[in-house]
Amino acid sequence: MTEQDFIPAEYSAEINDGKVTWQSPSNIALVKYWGKKENQIPANPSISFTLDSCRTTTTLSFQKKKNAEGFDFELFFEGEKKESFRPKIRKFFERIDAYLPFLKDYRFKIETSNSFPHSSGIASSASGMSALALCLMSLEKQLNPQITSEYYNRKASFLARLGSGSACRSIEGGLVNWGEHKNIPGTSDLYGVKYPHEVHKNFKNYQDTILLVDKGEKQVSSTLGHDLMNGHPYAERRFQQAHENLDLLKDVFKSGDLSKFIKVVESEALTLHAMMMTSQPYFLLMKPKTLEIINKIFEFRERTGMHLCFTLDAGANVHLLYPENEKKETLEFIKSELLQYCQNNQYIADHVGEGAVKLA
Ligand code: DP6
Repeated sequence: MTEQDFIPAEYSAEINDGKVTWQSPSNIALVKYWGKKENQIPANPSISFTLDSCRTTTTLSFQKKKNAEGFDFELFFEGEKKESFRPKIRKFFERIDAYLPFLKDYRFKIETSNSFPHSSGIASSASGMSALALCLMSLEKQLNPQITSEYYNRKASFLARLGSGSACRSIEGGLVNWGEHKNIPGTSDLYGVKYPHEVHKNFKNYQDTILLVDKGEKQVSSTLGHDLMNGHPYAERRFQQAHENLDLLKDVFKSGDLSKFIKVVESEALTLHAMMMTSQPYFLLMKPKTLEIINKIFEFRERTGMHLCFTLDAGANVHLLYPENEKKETLEFIKSELLQYCQNNQYIADHVGEGAVKLA
């Protein structure tokens, strides 16, 4: 599919007003998206686990306007008017205007809330942008009831990507690919797709315990972060490595080999940070406690032979990934030895989820 396929023909129905609610999850990348081209096209393919507990709930109310001049929307976050989100949403509307020609015909009210604690350092752009994209698709579906569920999901992912790249991986559940990869059929730079092959039972209900090491404001915004890959001395080799790591994971998802899984996933996390440390300007986003946790994980694996591993986003928090059948011992270890490194002992217990759901 190309961008053109997402430009709708005339709508068949007339809708004056309405209200929809979607709940959309966050996701955690195993092979990371870091670096992008024009129009939110990723510099390399990525894959993520869709999460379950970390969610954004968004209600979109809409009412037809008298004129179709300009965008008209109000924003509420956890019940309060949120002016600071306006520029981001305006930019999102500008980017998706060509694909949703009804946008200027309505006055919108967007009410949103997160399941995870405010300013936990957990990025809400993936869950937030995907929830809003799904709400807008609900309105498009009312205007054109012929839309199939496949087109619906694909276009929701396409729109979400234009809001925030990683958001396109938050529509469907399980493992989601984004970015063209020659050995994974159906992959596209334009939207996320569910990983197309069968996945070994070891990865069923994989656990993700998120340790909140540092809840402060992000030191480097994702826009600036991706930009650091332009002219980065190691960029081209890194983009190629992401393709290679996806090939390795493809074998791992088939065989269920958790030791190989760990090697790829931890290397991806450290490479992401290595890219930030070797860019100009450079950033060091790990904290001493992040490193303490990583070392403890290495020791735990050595001592027990279990398969706990870590991954990181562009920040100091640590995602602990482990199989469900090792949950009991791993959680005991996390509670007794790792929570001491979290701000106020805070963590989020999450696991792989089924994707976004329409609530109303
Ligand atoms: C490190 O999706 O937040 O989490 O497209 O600029 O909104 P924008 O970036 P964003 O970048 C996420 C980067 C990452 C890795 C990943 O999720 O793949």
